[in-house]
Amino acid sequence: MLSGMRYSFECKTAAVIAFVFLLQDFGIEGRLIQGTNVNLGEALQFLREYSNEGSEMCFRLNTARWNYATNMTEINKKRMIDEQTHKAKFDKVSWKKAITFDWTHLSDPVAKRQLKILATTGRASLNDEKYNEIHHLVSEMKDVYSHTQVCPFNNFDPQFCNISLEPDISRLMSHSKNPAELLHLWKEWHDKIGPRLKNKFMRYVQLANQAARMIGFSDAGDQMRHVYEDAVFEREVMETWRTLEELYKEIFTYVRRKLLTKYGPEFVRENGPIPVHLLGDLWGQDWSKIFDILKPYSWSKDVDVTSEMLLQGYTPLKMYQLAEEFYTSLGLKSMPPEFWKNSLFDKPNDRKIQCTASAWDFCNGVDYRIKQCTKVDLQDFVTAHHEMAHIQYYMHYAEQPYLYRDGANPGFHEGIANAIVLSISNPTHLQRIGLIRNESNAFETNIQFLLQMALKKVSYAPFAFLVDQWRYKVFKEGVKNMNSAWWDLRLRYQGIIPPDLRTEQQLDPMSKKHVPADIPYINYYIALLVEFQVYESLCAAKGHIGQLHTCDFYKSREVGSILSDAMQVGKARHWKDVIRMITKGQSDSISASSMLKYFQPLQQWLHLQNTNEEIIGWNVSSDDRMLFQPLQSKSNSVRYATFPLIILLVSGLII
Ligand SMILES: *[C@@H]1O[C@H](CO)[C@@H](O)[C@H](O)[C@H]1NC(C)=O
Ligand SMILES: *[C@@H]1O[C@H](CO)[C@@H](O)[C@H](O)[C@H]1NC(C)=O
Ligand SMILES: [Zn+2]
Repeated sequence: MLSGMRYSFECKTAAVIAFVFLLQDFGIEGRLIQGTNVNLGEALQFLREYSNEGSEMCFRLNTARWNYATNMTEINKKRMIDEQTHKAKFDKVSWKKAITFDWTHLSDPVAKRQLKILATTGRASLNDEKYNEIHHLVSEMKDVYSHTQVCPFNNFDPQFCNISLEPDISRLMSHSKNPAELLHLWKEWHDKIGPRLKNKFMRYVQLANQAARMIGFSDAGDQMRHVYEDAVFEREVMETWRTLEELYKEIFTYVRRKLLTKYGPEFVRENGPIPVHLLGDLWGQDWSKIFDILKPYSWSKDVDVTSEMLLQGYTPLKMYQLAEEFYTSLGLKSMPPEFWKNSLFDKPNDRKIQCTASAWDFCNGVDYRIKQCTKVDLQDFVTAHHEMAHIQYYMHYAEQPYLYRDGANPGFHEGIANAIVLSISNPTHLQRIGLIRNESNAFETNIQFLLQMALKKVSYAPFAFLVDQWRYKVFKEGVKNMNSAWWDLRLRYQGIIPPDLRTEQQLDPMSKKHVPADIPYINYYIALLVEFQVYESLCAAKGHIGQLHTCDFYKSREVGSILSDAMQVGKARHWKDVIRMITKGQSDSISASSMLKYFQPLQQWLHLQNTNEEIIGWNVSSDDRMLFQPLQSKSNSVRYATFPLIILLVSGLII
């Protein structure tokens, strides 16, 4: 996770190659809002001021956010909200100024691009009243989400109905093996969240669409996708999913067999979709949490890295020092003194804090921090490296103007951090740093490692892919039958069904925080692809031989220099240029082929496991559909079935 104010807008360079993208994008530029001022001097002056004030604003807001996150008092919360309000006003003023320029006709590419980013960002196009309303709505939805509590299993006595998502529901969803309890928790959460948020969400959709249309987008989904500055973005994303689908279905089929064995045909149909509540979390997104059920070799013991860490006297500080050593071994930067002074590695006892690990950029070129309630175990060791990758990224693009201090596209920060994590968390690396003693290159060890990774990454892919498909559809086609549209996508891409009847009274996508919190989701899918693409390229640069998942690029200066070049760019250039830099010209688009390559040995193995299955994937019965489309007529089902195709065609035509 990363923190700080993130802007996500688009990129272009003067490079010849980028010119192609510029042409592609030109059609849309013509309909975006702009003024008449073509005075380049004035534009540059404004952008300089914006960059300074924006950095200052970021410093103040992040200081207030940090103070609250590490000391959750009412006063600190109020100060943070004051800064947020301040920032919202600043955004509005900046937007108004930016749209006085005729930026499509400015010759200077840097000025043009920054103005375009400003003009197409956010919702400042709304009048003051509506602008405040949508900010208020989103913060209300976030509040409802974080304060919703449910009743425990078998006990609806109100005095006990105080179970929260974190840590209780999450823990129970992955630990409980009682299907009745899992169903209860799943249903409680979904039934309490959705109806409470439905009206607010519908108003939010209306306002977000108005804001987007006033800028010149066809709807708010169009505005969200515009960040990727890619006319064929949706088609490319769909193609990557087609590449992954077969692997996903193999894992799905393997998992369904294990669940059938565990829970019986009353819960899992041999050739059908899987009911979501059996998969380890509320959304069926991370199946590694039920690895105990899915383990192929029950006799094999997991390597206990954690006790080795304790034995060797690891502390949170030592974990961060080792993470730093990993980066300096590649020739990347060491952490500045401010980092060691201001970061928070240990959970304090004297106050309430938000423990989610995060990396912070205070936008002044010196102050960078990590907050993590670090436990001495393998997972937190990996997280330490992950968060420090964000700090490396921040430090590398610190010289860029404020608007370019961001990942090349919204998937890059996470993608690069996780690519590095693929190197440091595999057994090869853990052996090199002495956390695994005896080498075990047994076939079974490899398969278990890859299976665990796949249950986290490949199983997550269709979910990461579909959340925004749903959101785009709602923005485009309206709020009618929103809930059945959600389940239609879940069934189509994940092969997942709800554990009980759903209707339009409910609004199940609200169960995932990013939807009410107005946070784009496709970025996570892109990050997943970037992760494996970057990893494969870095491993090639290091000269790795053998199966991809065994590659560790510790101490490789070649890898460091590629990372450093790519991170320095920030978002000053189109992300396709950055992919070209990282892959040394081999590729200029997102692709799932690196991910397939990584999991290739597992895919072969899964295919063997699934030999006797009736179907690799799932058959949909009318009962499955009845769970969420009880009153749907035939013609409606057909409409849903063809929806992605329609979206693709229509957006293809517009752009
Ligand atoms: C926490 O914040 C309060 C203000 O609400 C402040 O008085 C207190 O000193 C802070 N505690 C720490 C440890 O920073
Ligand atoms: C929950 O209630 C059911 C029936 O009311 C009962 O059979 C079951 O034992 C109870 N389970 C727990 C954990 O209390
Ligand atoms: Zn992160």
